[in-house]
Amino acid sequence: MRVGPSVSQAARTKVVVLTADEAFAETVGATFGASAQIGLDLVHGSLSDCAGSLDFGGATVVVVDVDAGDETELVALEQLMLRIGQGSGRGQSGPPVVAITQNFAHAQARRLLQMRVADFLAKPVAPVELVRTCARVTEMAARSTPAASAETAEAQILTFLPAVGGAGVTTLAVQTAMLLLNSGARGKTSTCLVDLDFQHGTCADYLDIEPRLDLGEIGPRPERLDRQLLEVMLSQHASGLAVVAAPNRPAEMRSFDPDVVTRLLDLVSSHFEFVVFDMPRTWFSWTDSVLLGSDKLFIVSETTVPSLRQAKQLVAAIRERLGDGPKPQVVINRYVQKLFSHGLRRGDIEQAIGDAFLACVPNDYALVREAIDRGVPLDEVRKGNKITLQLKKLAVPQGNGKPAKAAADAAAKLKFSWARS
Ligand SMILES: Nc1ncnc2c1ncn2[C@@H]1O[C@H](COP(=O)(O)OP(=O)(O)O)[C@@H](O)[C@H]1O
Ligand SMILES: [Mg+2]
Repeated sequence: MRVGPSVSQAARTKVVVLTADEAFAETVGATFGASAQIGLDLVHGSLSDCAGSLDFGGATVVVVDVDAGDETELVALEQLMLRIGQGSGRGQSGPPVVAITQNFAHAQARRLLQMRVADFLAKPVAPVELVRTCARVTEMAARSTPAASAETAEAQILTFLPAVGGAGVTTLAVQTAMLLLNSGARGKTSTCLVDLDFQHGTCADYLDIEPRLDLGEIGPRPERLDRQLLEVMLSQHASGLAVVAAPNRPAEMRSFDPDVVTRLLDLVSSHFEFVVFDMPRTWFSWTDSVLLGSDKLFIVSETTVPSLRQAKQLVAAIRERLGDGPKPQVVINRYVQKLFSHGLRRGDIEQAIGDAFLACVPNDYALVREAIDRGVPLDEVRKGNKITLQLKKLAVPQGNGKPAKAAADAAAKLKFSWARS
C-alpha cells in the first residue's frame, strides 16, 4: 500500500521508506514529510511482502525497517541490496540503504554489514538520529561516486550563537560574512548573511541597509517562499553581500510557522557558496535544524566568569542534542590581554572552557563602533586590523577537500527537514 505524497520529478532529494510499523511511519512523516524540497515515498508493509513494489529510481536514500530476527526478512533485504546495487545500469551502485531494526544482536549486525547496508539504527529511532544518518550516508555515497568529484564545492554554512547577550554575535557574523565574500580566488564569492534574531536583529542596521524579509507576507504558507520571493526579500549591501533580515518589531511576539525558517535554510543553502547565520539567544523549534546543518558552529562569549560558565553550558547542551553532528567551538570576543592585572588570562579561559575553546578575538571598541556607524566592514576602517585577521583564521577555508555540491545539497536538505524537536 502506498501512502503519502507522490514524488515529483522536480524534487532532487527523494527519501524512500519501507516500514510496517505505524509509529515509525509517523516519525518518518513528521521528519521528512513537511519539507517541500524532499520527496518522501513511504511504503507501508513488511519487506518480504513489499520489496517488489519499492521504486527507488532517483532515490537519494532508502530506509528499510526490517525484523532482523526473521530470516525471511533478511533474505528479502539481501535481494533488495542486490537489486539496488545493479539498479543504475551505469556500473555504479544505487542509493545508500539504512536498515532500521527492532531487536539488535551482534550476528545480525554483521549480516547487515556484509549486505553492505550503509548504516543501521535500532529502535526507538529519534528523528534527529534518522536525519543525521540519512544525511551522512548520502554524503558518503556521493563522495565515492566518480562523477561527484568533478562538481563544484558545497555551500559552507557558518553559524554564530550567543552564550550571553551583547557578546558580539552580530559583529562577528557580519565581519565573517564580509571576509567570506572577499575570499574568492577570482573575485567575490556568493555569500549570504541571514539574521535569525527576528526579535532583536541588528544585521541590517550594522550594514546600514533596509531589511526586506516580510514574514507576514509568507504567513501561514511557507511553501510560498520560493527562489523568486527570496530574491525580492533579499537586501543587497554595496559590497555585494546578500542579507536576509526582517524589520524589528520589538514589542511584538512573533509567531510564525517554523517551516518558514526551514524553507529559508533550504533556499539559501542551495543558492549561495557561503551562508552565515546570526542566531538569537532563545532556543526555537527550528534551532536544532540550523545547528545540524552548519559546517562551523561558533559560540560567542566574553571573558567574565559567568559568561564562560554560560558558554560551557551551551556547549554541553549542544553536544547532547547534536551528538556527533557539528562541533560547537567557543570564541571569546572583546578579549584584552593584560599582563599585570588580576583579570582572566588566556590559559584560565582555556581551562574553563576545555577542548571546545577555539580562540580569542581582541577588543577594539573604537574600530568596531566606527565600522557600525558607517555601515562598512572593519577592514575598510583600518586595513589589517587584529579582529579581521583573527576572524580570517577562524572562518575562511584554506585549501579544498569539500564534498561535491549535489551531495552537499541533498544532505543539507535532509538535515534541514528536521525542524521539530
Ligand atoms: N571585538 C570587539 N571589540 C570591541 N567592541 C565590540 C567587539 N565586538 C562587538 N563589540 C561591541 O559590542 C556590542 C555588542 O555587539 P553585538 O555584535 O551587537 O552583540 P550581540 O549581537 O551578541 O548582541 C556592540 O556595541 C559592538 O560594537
Ligand atoms: Mg545581535
